[in-house]
Amino acid sequence: MSLKDVVIRPVPIRKLEESVVNRIAAGEIIHRPSNALKELIENSLDAGASSISIAVKDGGMKVLQIQDNGHGIRTEDLPIVCERFTTSKLREYEDLSTIQTYGFRGEALASISHVSHLSITTKQADSECAYKATYADGKLVPAKPGGSSAPEPCAGNNGTILTAEDLFYNIRSRKDALKNIRDEYTRIFEVASRYAIHNSGTAFTCRKLGAPKADLNTLHGASTITNIRQVFGAKISNSLVEIQHKDQELQAEFKGHVSSAAHEMHKSVFLLFINHRLVDHSPIKRAIESLYTSVLPKGSRPFVYLDLRIKPEDVDVNVHPTKREVRFLNEDIIIAQIIDCIHNKLLSTNNSREFALQSTLKKQPSSSLDNHDGDGQAYAASLRPSSTDKQSENIQPLFTNRNSNTSAPATTESGGIELSLSAGTDTAEAGPAPSPSREKSYAAPKANPRVEVRLTSIINLRKELQRRAHVELTQILSEHIFVGFVDDRRALIQYQTRLYMLDFCKLSYHLFYHRCLFDFMNYGRIILQPAPSIHDLAMIAASELGNENPEKAADDVLRRLSDNRELLAEYYNITISDTGTIDSLPMVVRDYSPDYDKLPLFLYNAANMVNWDDEQQFFKSFTNVLATLYVLEPPLSDDPQNTKDDYRLVVEHRILPSMKGSSFWAPESILVENALVQLVDLPDLYRIFERC
Ligand SMILES: Nc1ncnc2c1ncn2[C@@H]1O[C@H](COP(=O)(O)OP(=O)(O)OP(=O)(O)O)[C@@H](O)[C@H]1O
Ligand SMILES: [Mg+2]
Repeated sequence: MSLKDVVIRPVPIRKLEESVVNRIAAGEIIHRPSNALKELIENSLDAGASSISIAVKDGGMKVLQIQDNGHGIRTEDLPIVCERFTTSKLREYEDLSTIQTYGFRGEALASISHVSHLSITTKQADSECAYKATYADGKLVPAKPGGSSAPEPCAGNNGTILTAEDLFYNIRSRKDALKNIRDEYTRIFEVASRYAIHNSGTAFTCRKLGAPKADLNTLHGASTITNIRQVFGAKISNSLVEIQHKDQELQAEFKGHVSSAAHEMHKSVFLLFINHRLVDHSPIKRAIESLYTSVLPKGSRPFVYLDLRIKPEDVDVNVHPTKREVRFLNEDIIIAQIIDCIHNKLLSTNNSREFALQSTLKKQPSSSLDNHDGDGQAYAASLRPSSTDKQSENIQPLFTNRNSNTSAPATTESGGIELSLSAGTDTAEAGPAPSPSREKSYAAPKANPRVEVRLTSIINLRKELQRRAHVELTQILSEHIFVGFVDDRRALIQYQTRLYMLDFCKLSYHLFYHRCLFDFMNYGRIILQPAPSIHDLAMIAASELGNENPEKAADDVLRRLSDNRELLAEYYNITISDTGTIDSLPMVVRDYSPDYDKLPLFLYNAANMVNWDDEQQFFKSFTNVLATLYVLEPPLSDDPQNTKDDYRLVVEHRILPSMKGSSFWAPESILVENALVQLVDLPDLYRIFERC
């Protein structure tokens, strides 16, 4: 008989035995011990427990036990509690749309009873004693062969103890696949600790049976961040920033703790809770990861704890057998809000760290930085309403605070460079410190912690600088090697094989403008002794400028500055005494103080050229006036030799190094002003020599 002769007939359809159906269904809900634990924790939380203790043997395969102090199970419900589709939490299908409990299907305990030996001891607060019941395949069974299957009264605390033993004893293939008990315990710990972090009103412990110490031990009422610290350690918890947002219209809100840019971790950690359910939500995860790709150093991954609450009617919780997934209305809008919120938070906290933007220098040699959105930024931007200004929304990727003198921009895989900016107070250390001249007195720049600046106006001005930065120029200045002075205005510097002439006096304006903004509220202090009179100085300036009534002009200057002296003291370390003297100035670059001959003009301009009415315009114009005060002025030819020596020492060891190590985003205008000119490139020289 050939194969062709075999007639393939349909096999008769039969109804599966209930036990088979139940075991298959159970397998969909309980894949491994950690799934069972999740269900049991949720039941305890639904029962209002304020304390949950978990004990585990052999990764939960041998014993998985959970004890809570919740409301317990009614004795009369014990016979049916492990049957499929029995629940105290849902009556009508419609109730699902407003469900406030984790459970609603009445399947979890049934599933566990189909794949393990399950026992429940439970006591309600008003019962005289506890009852213990044993289950197999959803039904009550005797605890010992030949005994009664009815729940037995026993001693016990209020609440419920559930013990699942020999998990998957009746599904060999599953049991064999779960041999790595360490791995299973890790997963159990992960589930327990995540619920512990999210439910700060409940104390959690998790331990291996027989172990003297619990691996997880959170306290009732401890804050979320305390719990995160307990589970993930201080290093991670200290690097987190808090986020919060509420959308009245959608009735959605979220809060959480997410990595700041200073965070370095090689594995992403997502604790994502939607209406208190621990879920995987790929679109949210992808969007956040994408955002962080452009923010964190290469290879570093984010930590995200997000507690998202949405109107229950807008959430579909019934989309996955293990409830690991949910769907909700207005996903795109809410995800965009999450991304925006994290993004803004990072922007507002980044001043205390370093900034960096990835760019592709080789492809676009002289383009400015704002053309170089990373993928993540593009994605984040695509989620935002299109009407927003993308440039101003550029994420400033942040790097951990490195020593600004030693960290050169890193080369990226793509062959581009990363530009980073140290926002730290200038700490140029190279070389001998110039001896301060006698009449100047310095106070050291503020030690850590830096003051964190949250003023949107300052952040916007910094972003403006970032947008105007020239990638190649920034890199040259960041990595240059000082060769020597040409004169008191110009120096030769080398970058790779090229030699440049730098007009450091012209450049110093940009540098000081930059430092004034980035070290805002973190300056050192230059104490003026003896403190000069503002009125006298303003009179000098007014006269020099040909003001018809210098006396009145000086009065105005003094009044204007005295009226704003609190602001000047707080933001700029500019102190004005009751007697009208100026006692101190900000020290913007260490050991460098401006030419005091410029003080009269500075005071005059501060009063007259600064817009005191609009916050952002004020900071912009005041920074401009301040930077102008600090601009390097070469010594006069009849100045004493030691003044000239000091000047060059300051330029070589303080001013020029403060541009290095990614501390300065150089604007394109430096090129326009011819402040940096390339003199020669080594390969060109070779060619000349070859011809000779
Ligand atoms: N720890 C507990 N304390 C008090 N009651 C409990 C506890 N665990 C389970 N129950 C009761 O047993 C019932 C069945 O639990 P089970 O987890 O099987 O279903 P559910 O929670 O209602 O729904 P789901 O299958 O979606 O979890 C619950 O509805 C609840 O009334
Ligand atoms: Mg349940």
